[in-house]
Amino acid sequence: MQKKIAVLAGDGIGPEVTKQALKVLRAIERAFDHEFTYEEGLVGAAAIDETGNPFPKETEKLCLKADAILFGAIGHPKYDNDPNAKVRPEQGLLAMRKKLGLYSNVRPIKSYPAISEISPLKANIIEGVDFVVFRELTSGIYFGEPRGRNESGDVAFDTCIYSKEEIRRISKLAFEAAMKRKKKVTLVDKANVLATSRLWRETVREYSQDFPEVKLDYMYIDNAAMKLIQNPSVFDVVLTENMFGDILTDAASVITGSLGMLPSASMGEKVALFEPIHGSYPEVAGQLRANPIGAILSAAMMLNYAFDMVEESNAIKAAVQQVLDDGEVTEDINHDNPLSTKEVGDKIATLVYASNSVNA
Ligand code: IPM
Ligand code: MN
Repeated sequence: MQKKIAVLAGDGIGPEVTKQALKVLRAIERAFDHEFTYEEGLVGAAAIDETGNPFPKETEKLCLKADAILFGAIGHPKYDNDPNAKVRPEQGLLAMRKKLGLYSNVRPIKSYPAISEISPLKANIIEGVDFVVFRELTSGIYFGEPRGRNESGDVAFDTCIYSKEEIRRISKLAFEAAMKRKKKVTLVDKANVLATSRLWRETVREYSQDFPEVKLDYMYIDNAAMKLIQNPSVFDVVLTENMFGDILTDAASVITGSLGMLPSASMGEKVALFEPIHGSYPEVAGQLRANPIGAILSAAMMLNYAFDMVEESNAIKAAVQQVLDDGEVTEDINHDNPLSTKEVGDKIATLVYASNSVNA
């Protein structure tokens, strides 16, 4: 099969982890006789340096004509330390989500027995954890208007706003996913306080009538944060709004033991985007110390979700499982005897090819 992939490596460790994901995709091409083409685009601080815009028009065009987007990371410390910076790399990420209509962010959270000792949670708590968060990504307090300051500048405000339609379209994806899993959706909100949360409850309850087999339950965000640490196995499909999903998924990432392990998919109206959930981690950028598995598993999600290549996607997951079992991993998982970013990428690519090349 032929597919066109837009590659936006971005900032910090983005380029080095993305490079490993591309290496693994090339192994998939050879083993399964596919032909992927890769076209690179600028995004984030790198794009500001060259064009003044963190999500240039060129990049937007490139994304829109691709079959899928592989994204690295965005963010640079020179902007974090400058509260007056007019453009920030993160604006590129938000603009990209909005312009590409990527309203649903899918973040799977899984515990891996082979690395359970690096989780700060006890092994019996994380055993068997396997859930997926559907986070709304293009509305809510991240985008609501009005936002800003009053005239004197000493009062600031943001607006959280949701429409039924925005809630319905992500509910559809969450309920469809639930049908393929344990048929359970947990809506996380703050309906005891917020009007938007009450609209979420009402809309999702209505929507759930179309899925009588799916059990819908509700949980306040504060309680969900507690459950995530105390008993994360209660979750299967979690559905939530933008900001709650942002916070909850960072907290959930701790279960696996390393943020570097986790992939994500963002989908919606047009082309879908796949990225590790970690940030640009500038402290180690360029040193080949970062874990490439989040980026590599994002490529696996791309194969599955965007190209319907289930076997190929599973081949990558199996190779990842293998390097975890063998302890052939980066320093975030194996302190004493770590491999480099590149070595982990090489191992996974070799395993993918070796165990599937009969298909070619
Ligand atoms: C994420 C990030 C972004 C967000 C930031 C960088 C704007 O934290 O993708 O979760 O808050 O959505
Ligand atoms: Mn976040």
